[in-house]
Amino acid sequence: MKKCVLFLLPVVLFIVITGMNSKDKEGGTKMAPEKGEKSPTLHSFGDGAVIQLPAPRLKGEMSLEECIQKRRSIRSFEPRKLTLQEISQLLWAMQGITDERQGLRAAPSAGALYPLEIYLVKDDGVYHYEPHGHRLEVLGTKDVRDELVSAALRQSSVRQAAVNFVICAVYERVTTRYGEKGVRFTDMEAGHAAQNLHLEAVALGLASVPVGAFMEEGVAKALSLPKGHRPIYILPVGEPVKQKAEK
Ligand SMILES: Cc1cc2nc3c(=O)[nH]c(=O)nc-3n(C[C@H](O)[C@H](O)[C@H](O)COP(=O)(O)O)c2cc1C
Repeated sequence: MKKCVLFLLPVVLFIVITGMNSKDKEGGTKMAPEKGEKSPTLHSFGDGAVIQLPAPRLKGEMSLEECIQKRRSIRSFEPRKLTLQEISQLLWAMQGITDERQGLRAAPSAGALYPLEIYLVKDDGVYHYEPHGHRLEVLGTKDVRDELVSAALRQSSVRQAAVNFVICAVYERVTTRYGEKGVRFTDMEAGHAAQNLHLEAVALGLASVPVGAFMEEGVAKALSLPKGHRPIYILPVGEPVKQKAEK
């Protein structure tokens, strides 16, 4: 009997301790989406024109390993524009719906609360990505690139990009459930989405760079962002400048 207790005690202790650790002490224990839960800050876009994006292709010519090996931060781009198919592919990789039934997206999200909103700045205006329906909403047709470049401390990558993808965070969607930890969760999620874009860019023969050095207020003003949509990353994308042949 004594032997049996001595054997069982460590097992019981292990179960109790691991059970305690599996609970998120700072932010509660829920990591799955609540049915019917709505964000208090969900912004309603959709007054303007909508562009249906072509379906993304799900097979590519480059392996994931090659994309990882080849990815570099590139800051100089050719002047060529991106095609709608390329834009579609990049947006899908960042935030596209990959599980229609449950509405889950290409990048993971704490509690599937999806606090990221993606904006695009092109020569012909500002757009917002709507993952449901895989479409772009036209927010304005003014060229705001000069304002964006100024806000991004005049970085050449932002100036030369065919498209600047701007990841915004709506922190409240996550802090409402996870408290302060929700800010960290949201920033982590932006990293997931950004890396997907960088790797997809390589797969398409394009190039990109993550830009974190910018003035938040300036970007918000340039894009006329709704309250609570806070820009945290600018991702300039374009065709990489061709290397000159060695003599
Ligand atoms: C959070 C973050 C912010 C960054 N901000 C900038 C930036 O503002 N401008 C820039 O040119 N590169 C920026 N970078 C890119 C880094 O300079 C680059 O990743 C680093 O030099 C390593 O090179 P690699 O990306 O080619 O591996 C940033 C990278 C990260 C992860």
